[in-house]
Amino acid sequence: MSQQPKLEAKNSASGADTDIVFIYQRAKGAVEAPGVGAYKSVLDKLVKSKLEDGHRKGLHHLCMAGKGGRKHVLFIGLGKEDDLAPEHLRQIGALAWRKLCAEKAKVGAVWAEALPSLEHVQAFAEGMLLTTYSFHKYRTKVSLPKEPAAPSKLLFVDKNAKAKADLARALKNAEHYQEAMTLCRDWANEPSNFGTPEYFAAECKRMAKKLGIKCTVLNETQCKKEKMGLFLSVGAGSDREGQMVILDWNPKGAKKTVSLVGKGVTFDSGGISIKPSLKMEDMKHDMAGAATMAAVTFLAAMRKAKNRIVTVLAFTENMPSGHATQPGNIISGRNGKTVEIINTDAEGRLILADALDYAQDFKPDVVVNAATLTGACTVALGRQACAILGNDQKLVDLLRAHADRQGERMWQLPLWDEYFDDMKSDYADMRNSANDGAGGTIRGAIFLKQFIRSGMKWAHLDIANVAYDANHIPYHPRKGGTGKYVRTLCDFVMEY
Ligand code: BES
Ligand code: ZN
Ligand code: ZN
Repeated sequence: MSQQPKLEAKNSASGADTDIVFIYQRAKGAVEAPGVGAYKSVLDKLVKSKLEDGHRKGLHHLCMAGKGGRKHVLFIGLGKEDDLAPEHLRQIGALAWRKLCAEKAKVGAVWAEALPSLEHVQAFAEGMLLTTYSFHKYRTKVSLPKEPAAPSKLLFVDKNAKAKADLARALKNAEHYQEAMTLCRDWANEPSNFGTPEYFAAECKRMAKKLGIKCTVLNETQCKKEKMGLFLSVGAGSDREGQMVILDWNPKGAKKTVSLVGKGVTFDSGGISIKPSLKMEDMKHDMAGAATMAAVTFLAAMRKAKNRIVTVLAFTENMPSGHATQPGNIISGRNGKTVEIINTDAEGRLILADALDYAQDFKPDVVVNAATLTGACTVALGRQACAILGNDQKLVDLLRAHADRQGERMWQLPLWDEYFDDMKSDYADMRNSANDGAGGTIRGAIFLKQFIRSGMKWAHLDIANVAYDANHIPYHPRKGGTGKYVRTLCDFVMEY
């Protein structure tokens, strides 16, 4: 992590060395920096010389052109104000942070009062904070990059004294989102020789204790008693013991219960249906669904969510060995249904089947799961949106609305029951794959649906395409876990 800036809400920019000034393009080509009149003449000169037109094009850093005691100024063109999405601020926040680091700014003054809303201010702060992330814990001095120069402080300025408390709250929110997304990224990046099921179970216990969440961990013996045959079948080939973690945030007076379920395959080799070696190392990220749901639960607890949140995280490892499940094996799940496992690489759905069944014992109002479930998700959607599928349109729409607000896209795929026809088995109630490469993401979801009880509202997020390496978003790291959907899902559980 590069140096973490302190964020402060202020009524003046005093003490800063760099002004960060937002400029807009108004009607008839006028370019304005509202609230920062001192820059009018500099801006006019830039416009006259056609260096700046206020479009959403990026940044202008002017050395020694600061006003009111500042040395430098960073202009940020935002284009027209009326169609400015907070996500744009989040993304430009990432670019601004890198520019400030490159220019060795020490204290930046962000002229927050010029932004259309606190949501925009918060998004800008988030973009900056999220860009400080790095995962260097396993580098020694041999390869550790030199700590880059970074501002130690960012002042968010609004001259109106009354605005300060709201501003401070927005900045605190940004820090909370960052904290949760950092945890999600860190977990996803942990290599599987350290990030084992037992490691994540212990981390869950540690975090839960800190936050007042009840945490129960079922080891394999206990999972056997719970008849979680499908979950256990995935870990059968591994020497590391699987762990089913249950986090229960149960505040007094809670009226609703939201259940979250996450796929936590700490390494997915494919098992006996072994994967090719190319990029197999990426399969250390196959627990990103569980990392997401854990981060959401911790953040919701930090924010004192009013709803009960029951989170079930299925941690295990998918390995080939003499004990591993073999194609053709038939296994009973916790709900009694039998599955012919024709491809041991379609393991995520197996562990989720038992975890979803367990979660429903808590009688939640709604259950949502997240999983890096299918490579087909990348084929269908690229890296622009995760897939969402569910049995309740209102729930899907609600999740998508939250995602839109957070600039995190979700795209719905159909879940017609006819898709289950392809999953029928000659020997068991169903098979875990159809093995013909068609409609992979939908088939994963239709399999999960067989474990959803009648009347239960459920949505499934397939995040295989966005959970790591989605570096087209400037505030995502170049490599590794992204922390995507932590913000969206936290808003969802808080407001459901
Ligand atoms: N963990 C993988 C899905 C995955 C692939 C995530 C690539 C991220 C990147 C999952 O367990 C898997 O292997 N799914 C199979 C399913 C198939 C055998 C039906 C797949 O997508 O090929
Ligand atoms: Zn797999
Ligand atoms: Zn997997």
